[in-house]
Amino acid sequence: MYSEKVMDHFEHPRNVGEIENASGVGTVGNAKCGDIMRIFLDIDDDGIIRDVKFKTFGCGAAVATSSMATELVKGKTVKEAMQVTNKAVMEALDGLPPVKVHCSLLAEEAIHAALWDYAQKKGIVIEGLEKPKSDIHEGEEQEEEEY
Ligand code: FES
Repeated sequence: MYSEKVMDHFEHPRNVGEIENASGVGTVGNAKCGDIMRIFLDIDDDGIIRDVKFKTFGCGAAVATSSMATELVKGKTVKEAMQVTNKAVMEALDGLPPVKVHCSLLAEEAIHAALWDYAQKKGIVIEGLEKPKSDIHEGEEQEEEEY
């Protein structure tokens, strides 16, 4: 059911841990399954992500997607990191079962939340970055009511 890459990143997750005095920290949860992901970014003066670490209290797919997401943003510029969508993470992992797609969303949102925190601290604007949700289902009920 899971690709070899998913299993590999689940069993040997890359970049697990924390960064002290991180340039940006983002925490996002998923109220439906109760999983939480936190991403720490170390960004240098040129806007390059020098280091990234994560902590995930969640399912295997959430661990694998956060591990892969950290690998994908490491060494990249902030702008390039914005291109690391949940789709890109899933592709890099050779896919996820449909019921686990939301887990990869947690990784994308956590990176965005960490970038948002960095932008706030620096007083800069990152193009295309919107204020992150603290839960990936935030605002869903409202949308449902509108229809
Ligand atoms: Fe919650 Fe995967 S089941 S993130």
